[in-house]
This record gives sequence, structure tokens and C-alpha cells, in this order.
Amino acid sequence: MKLAVTSPLPVAVQPRAPELTVVQPASGRLTAAELIACQPDALVCLLSDRVDDALLEALPRLQVVANVAVGLDNIDVAAATSRGVCVTNTPDVLTDATAELTLALLLATARRLTEGEQLVRSGQWRGWALDLLLGVPIAGSTLGIVGLGRIGGKVAQLGRALGMQLCYAAPRPVAGAAALGAVYLPLRELLRQADFVSLHCPLRAGTRTLLDRDALALMKPSAILLNTARGELVDEDALCEMLETGRLWAAGLDVFCNEPQVSPRILACPRITLAPHLGSATTKARTQMAELAIDAAVSVLRGQPPKTLVNQAAWPPRGQR
Ligand code: DGY
Repeated sequence: MKLAVTSPLPVAVQPRAPELTVVQPASGRLTAAELIACQPDALVCLLSDRVDDALLEALPRLQVVANVAVGLDNIDVAAATSRGVCVTNTPDVLTDATAELTLALLLATARRLTEGEQLVRSGQWRGWALDLLLGVPIAGSTLGIVGLGRIGGKVAQLGRALGMQLCYAAPRPVAGAAALGAVYLPLRELLRQADFVSLHCPLRAGTRTLLDRDALALMKPSAILLNTARGELVDEDALCEMLETGRLWAAGLDVFCNEPQVSPRILACPRITLAPHLGSATTKARTQMAELAIDAAVSVLRGQPPKTLVNQAAWPPRGQR
């Protein structure tokens, strides 16, 4: 049986799957055409690989797609399920790393670290001044978390440790939220009340541009938007307009609508901290993500349900029914 891995990974694949033929590039990325030529039984891919219905149609032997990511918006899960193809992801192992990156963006944006660094590096800094690059307070302010799952829950803990008040919006109240001191609010109310709004929901049909022009307009002019989830959750043009006109104070973005392209308008926006989708970018998290994905793919081919199966209806996969 054949396991295709679209990219080099931080862990060696073959020792974890000695019985399989592994097809993996030494560098770069396997294209869709190369995958089709290879006809794998299992596929380990990244969030930047699109696995749509057309690709699934062209891979009739495929039993499992193991995404090296917790987000699944790059995979047509419904199409995979209807074809009897298992889909797995990598929850838990990236929770701390992604929450910590959210906190880094929160602190850097509130305290204007990027502007400060540019000032120092440019040689334009003229010395300590009472009114130089004044930021906003964090302790005592309200952090509104949109999506109180694993990562949102960890962000809540970190926010609490900083002395922030917590509220959250979610499809329904979350058990355990009260223990975190997080108050459940409808999204629109959260947007009105929060000093920091941090997005931690998955990208799905129902959450695309969740923060559209109208929703963004509900935020306080002094507020900060943080996005370490997916760029498409926010209407980027509307966000830029809010920042350009001072109707929103600042934003910290790790994700964008058309990665790796970032719109020139975003690049030119005032008070915006930018990162290149670094949420899970620690050696530990990325290693564990790769291990989890490989093990999930191998499990399926060995006839064992993987721990991180997201489409139970696809079990057992085609070829094992
Ligand atoms: C994910 O796993 O979905 C994250 O975006 C990776 O950083």
C-alpha cells in the first residue's frame, strides 16, 4: 500500500510505516498531478494543500486524508465522507502554541511593539517621551473570545492570568466556561462590550466573514481585533476601512484571506501587527502534529480507527467494507 506525504515533515515517515511504500518529496510540494500519478491509499497533507471533490474523484484508492492541522477548511470533508474516505486532523498538540501566539499578538498590538521596533531600527527615536507610542491597558480590560474550544479555552486561561475580564460567544454555552470566569454573550453583544476580540472558531460556510462590515462596526473604536484562526472569518476590506478611519484602534493578524498573499491595503494599515500564520509554529507542536497525522494515516490502513477521525460516518473506509 502507498502513503503519499505532500511535503517534507519534521519526523521521518518510513520508520512509523515500515510496511508501506512512502512517496514524499525531499523538498517542495507534491502537486495534484503527481498525487494522481502516484494513486496513494493514504494521504498526509498540509493546510495549504487543497483536497477537493475533483481530487478525491481522481484518487479512487484513497482511504484516508490526514491533515497536519486542526483546521479542515482545505478539505472537502463532506465529499470525502460520501466517498468513504476517512479524514483526520491534529487537535490538542497545537493548543498551547496557538494560544501563546495569540497572547503574543495581543501584547504586541496593545503595546505597539512593532511600531516601537521600527522606530528604534530606523534611527528616528529621539529619546524617552511622555507621549511616545502609548498603548492600551490589558489588566482589567475585557477579552471577548469567539469560539471557546480548546484554543479559545487556553486563551481564556492566559487572559485571566493577565487580569482580564472574559466573555465568549459560541453556538451554545460551553460547560466549564464559568470555571474560567467567562461569561456567555451573543456575538453582537460581545463585539459591543469587548476591548479585545479574539477569533478561535473553525472556518465553515456559516462562519465565512463572520465579522463582516456590520459586525466590525459594533466594536468599540478603542478595541483590538486578534485573528489566529482563519483569514476568511473577517471581511479584510471592511477591517482595513475601520483601521484607516480610526473606527477600530488596532488589529493583530496571523492569518489572511489569500495566504501567502497579503493585500497591500492590509500592509499599509495603521496599528496592525502581522505574522505569517505562526500559530502552531513551535518545534514541539509541529513535530507532534506530523506524528499524529502519520500515525492516523497508518492506523486507517492497518484497519484500526484513528484517534483523530473527524468523519465517523466514513468508518470503516472504502476498501475495508
Ligand atoms: C491549524 O492547525 O489549523 C493551524 O492553523 C496551524 O497553524
